[in-house]
Amino acid sequence: MRALKNILVTGGAGFIGSNFIRYLLKKVGNFNGIIINVDALTYAGNKNNLSDIEEDQRYKFAHGDICDRTFIENLFTKYSIDTVVHYAAESHVDRSIIGPEAFIKTNIMGTFSLIDTARNIWKDRNDVLFHHISTDEVYGSLGETGYFTETTAYDPRSPYSSSKAGSDHLVKSYFHTYGLPLTISNCSNNYGPYQFPEKLIPLMILNILEEKPLPVYGDGKYIRDWLYVEDHNSAVFTIMQKGKAGETYNIGGENEWENIKLLYELIDIVSSKVNKSSNNIRKLITYVKDRPGHDRRYAIDCSKLKLELGWKQTYDFINGLEHTVNWYIENKNWIDSIRSGNYQQWLDKNYINRI
Ligand code: NAD
Ligand code: TYD
Repeated sequence: MRALKNILVTGGAGFIGSNFIRYLLKKVGNFNGIIINVDALTYAGNKNNLSDIEEDQRYKFAHGDICDRTFIENLFTKYSIDTVVHYAAESHVDRSIIGPEAFIKTNIMGTFSLIDTARNIWKDRNDVLFHHISTDEVYGSLGETGYFTETTAYDPRSPYSSSKAGSDHLVKSYFHTYGLPLTISNCSNNYGPYQFPEKLIPLMILNILEEKPLPVYGDGKYIRDWLYVEDHNSAVFTIMQKGKAGETYNIGGENEWENIKLLYELIDIVSSKVNKSSNNIRKLITYVKDRPGHDRRYAIDCSKLKLELGWKQTYDFINGLEHTVNWYIENKNWIDSIRSGNYQQWLDKNYINRI
């Protein structure tokens, strides 16, 4: 089992990264290292995502861009970093279609800046680890059957997924070429508290609450494999402790849903909590223009992670959704703080382009 001491978490003010830091500090009982959270606070990053742990002595925030190499080098030296867990990314497919450049910068150049700094500073140490967070979208799109495994050939089809694929290849090359101790994980779609409401589940929750149109892309029969965010992070932590250097591990929910069926489920859950009629809310469903290059189906085979490292999911989907819906209902201040940026402008633009 690896000892993880001085951890640099990138993108820790975003959705999954902030949940990872909270998981490590609040749920992993004996964690006595330090966490440095480096985040550029883009539209998707929010310091409030970690307001409940700001006072924890084991936690420090460093505001900056992972592409800024001098800044990253200084953090490595100042805090004797021995572990990196790299979440920072531009993460939304629709934004990558409208403006791919930021995806190339952060996802490819940012990853290069981090991993090359790690190589220069760590040299031949083998008591260190670089864990790279990636997505199942690098594998492309499945037909009605089959699953992505760790040996599925990469076939990314959006600027987002191809920038992640590029970063995965680059990271892997640092193991083969330089022997840098590293692991990679490719995960399916996450949901849970603190997810920026541009992604399907939180967007729909807010629109149901406000009785706004519910935009379903194409025929609504696209399939995603959903995983509760804490289950993703427990898998990441397991890989960081026990994963074999140089290996990739797929993480998934084994929980496939057609978008339209998931939306019906969400409508029922939200409506029952706020005393609205599901039938009336269903009338808000609006079929809109499809996403270009829309991948039909994602489904992960995560048996390697389960069999070799002993991980398993713990959240049942309906309970996870209920928990998530409650969180969005109870955290109006968080939603208001998102609305104070240009969130609505982006959504309206995306929506108008589709009708
Ligand atoms: P997010 O968009 O919610 O958060 C990304 C964070 O990275 C933000 O806090 C942002 O400020 C920060 N960031 C962006 N560019 C930066 C830069 N140049 N320098 C420093 N910080 C920067 O994303 P997320 O949904 O939490 O995803 C986190 C990671 O997990 C990403 O690598 C993503 O590809 C991967 N992933 C996400 C999902 C999902 O369903 N959301 C599934 C599988 C994998
Ligand atoms: P999303 O949450 O953007 O994740 P990803 O594209 O990375 O899988 O979208 C999930 C699915 O929901 C995807 O098939 C696109 C679809 N979708 C809609 O139908 N309507 C929406 O408003 C959004 C944001 C997504």
